Amino acid sequence: MLNPSDFIEESIKDIKKTIGDGKAIIALSGGVDSSVASVLTSTAIGENLVAVFVDHGLLREGESDYVNNTFKDRLNLRTVDASEEFLSRLDGVYDPEEKRKIIGEVFIRVFERVAEEVGAEFLVQGTIAPDWIESEGQIKSHHNIALPHGLVLNIVEPIRELYKDEVRVVGTELGLPEEMVNRQPYPGPGLAVRIVGKLTEEKIEICRKANAIVEEEVKKEGLDASLWQYFAVLTDTKVTGVKGDIRDYGYLVVLRMVESIDAMTASVPELPWSMVKTISQRITAEVSEVTHVSLSVSDKPPSTIEFA
Ligand code: XMP
Repeated sequence: MLNPSDFIEESIKDIKKTIGDGKAIIALSGGVDSSVASVLTSTAIGENLVAVFVDHGLLREGESDYVNNTFKDRLNLRTVDASEEFLSRLDGVYDPEEKRKIIGEVFIRVFERVAEEVGAEFLVQGTIAPDWIESEGQIKSHHNIALPHGLVLNIVEPIRELYKDEVRVVGTELGLPEEMVNRQPYPGPGLAVRIVGKLTEEKIEICRKANAIVEEEVKKEGLDASLWQYFAVLTDTKVTGVKGDIRDYGYLVVLRMVESIDAMTASVPELPWSMVKTISQRITAEVSEVTHVSLSVSDKPPSTIEFA
């Protein structure tokens, strides 16, 4: 059983020894892993760690404010609004893998600009044990990474031996708010993997609003701790509906709520029907472009958790 205060003490020593007076940078996503890695490293080297939060225009409602409010007093935080850069590169792109590739490329470009400005020599990453165990099957030891412009950063992975539950315990010990350490995982490409087809400002906004309703109602029901992920997917399908007395033609939104241990497999639990109906009623009433809401009941496998 991990003793969080011993772990923190040891890690701080290690980080100080590795980074010394050097400058380090971390991509802070707002997820629990990068948050814990950021706060731990910052406790060791203070202002010499710059935490970069990139707004790619595909964030959940309120996410930027949430990250800024949670970390502004804890970290040397730099928020970069790169949404125009991301969305212009994604314009007209339909294929999900292509979207991921573009988002990854633009992200590295944005991140590299900040790393150059900061004069960073170290890249701190929130890698945890399942990340490298699943991808490598053995211990991987990459010591540095060369960014496209040639900047070479030494990699520091302070929580790479931890599992998710241990990361949460360490986060709590570091004084992070409970809501933060227990957040559902949120994919790096954000709403891009929850919007089928081309990304437009309109579709992003519809997905964002529908998703906010799902999150609110799941929390109200007290299911946020037991569900692995819960969100809305905006499909590319339009269906006929009737709102008031008028026929309408709007989007089909799918609700996706799964239980999982590690996201390798996932199952859809029995959900309170009243909650599902409330979510459906609220989305069709509050998001005018949506005429129909359905519930995904497919497990992983054969389905994946995300839709795109
Ligand atoms: P799937 O959809 O493959 O998702 O069942 C498994 C877990 O991974 C997350 N996910 C991603 N996370 N970048 C990420 O950072 C991605 O491109 C990505 N795709 C899926 C997903 O949210 C789930 O927790």
